[in-house]
Amino acid sequence: MANTLEATGPNTAFAEGIRKQFPLLNQQVNGRPLVYFDNAATTQKPQQVIEAMNRYYREYNSNVHRGVHHLSQVATDAMEQVRNRMADFLGASRHEEIIFTSGCTGGINLAAHILGRAYLRPGDEILLTEMEHHSNIVPWQLAAEISGAIIKVIPVLEDGTLDLEAYQNLLSPRTKVVAFVHVSNALGTINPAAEIISMAKNVGALTLVDGAQALAHERVNVQDLNCDFYVTSAHKHYGPTGIGVLYGRYELLEKLPPYQGGGEMIDRVTFDRTTYNTPPFKFEAGTPNIAGIIGMGASIEWLQEQDIEQVKAYEHELLAYATRALSEIDGFVPVGTSPNKAAVISFNLKGVHHYDVGVLLDKMGLALRTGHHCTQPLMDCYAIEGTVRASFAPYNTFEEIDRLVEALRKAQQMLS
Ligand SMILES: Cc1ncc(COP(=O)(O)O)c(C=O)c1O
Repeated sequence: MANTLEATGPNTAFAEGIRKQFPLLNQQVNGRPLVYFDNAATTQKPQQVIEAMNRYYREYNSNVHRGVHHLSQVATDAMEQVRNRMADFLGASRHEEIIFTSGCTGGINLAAHILGRAYLRPGDEILLTEMEHHSNIVPWQLAAEISGAIIKVIPVLEDGTLDLEAYQNLLSPRTKVVAFVHVSNALGTINPAAEIISMAKNVGALTLVDGAQALAHERVNVQDLNCDFYVTSAHKHYGPTGIGVLYGRYELLEKLPPYQGGGEMIDRVTFDRTTYNTPPFKFEAGTPNIAGIIGMGASIEWLQEQDIEQVKAYEHELLAYATRALSEIDGFVPVGTSPNKAAVISFNLKGVHHYDVGVLLDKMGLALRTGHHCTQPLMDCYAIEGTVRASFAPYNTFEEIDRLVEALRKAQQMLS
């Protein structure tokens, strides 16, 4: 990648074309032009996503599925079109496999809860990896509590790659669920999802993939992956917060019980007995986040308009450039150096606390995340409390990375 960059020069026109679609980026923070490198926490939103949500509230705000009147039908159609778009985007075999949730956390809680109630039995094993976000740990602990299942953990190698040999040894007929992160938010590691799923299938286990960090960087096809569940959060891929999708294989969704009770998820309610709606509605109790769904649809439309190969190549150039430049700083300690990485760099500066670095960077107009990134067990593996994390999007530039390097050198001088 470094060679490509040297041969062709940074593709600044590409980033500029994307940048101008994101109004928030054009501002000063603490007297300096904002550098936004916190894209793994949440991405910024293009104008068309903001506009789509505005238009919903300005022109057709109405509750869905419940009204015969015009506005309700327009809102329902718009929402169901997003379901179709999402099904198409993720390669689902039918749109009923797309359940709207509040995001990855909501989706994993839903799946873990219903599996805990209706599928897992005492002594069954749930395999998680050491690099999971708390969202893909705690819901399984709750499911283990209600079912009597046991959690086992697949270790991570020093460079942040998943230990597939150890995984193979942990798999057995007792393994009933394998839940893992597609792209690690803390390390950037891209896990070999298809291989992990195929190994799980060999012992008959169900699989859930936490796709929070994947969709902004990669095209995903759930049928090619052959997973049973896949979760997303729209705000990680240029959409709004508080909305996402749980993809679930239809035959499974049909058999599994509902999660929450309320409006929309029912077929018929009496005080003696309630029968349930079919998937996906069985899992969508209450008025959904309609504006969020509309915004998520616009973010998928935006993603589909981008040339993903160009996005990937550009992000890799940013990653290679940043890795090289940061490595020249004395005391730079990278955390997570897997050869297969998304555009995320986690690091520490020797002798300096990551939090202090973050505060000083903010004073210089740079937004980076510091801390444990909701992956405390992973931080324990590296015997650290946290890291500084720079995570890139196609609107970031090489000049911004130069500013990061300069700011880190200043921060280091001030703090040591
Ligand atoms: C890998 C991963 N999983 C799950 C989540 C949770 O996403 P949300 O808070 O949108 O539910 C995040 C968010 O940081 C994440 O990075």
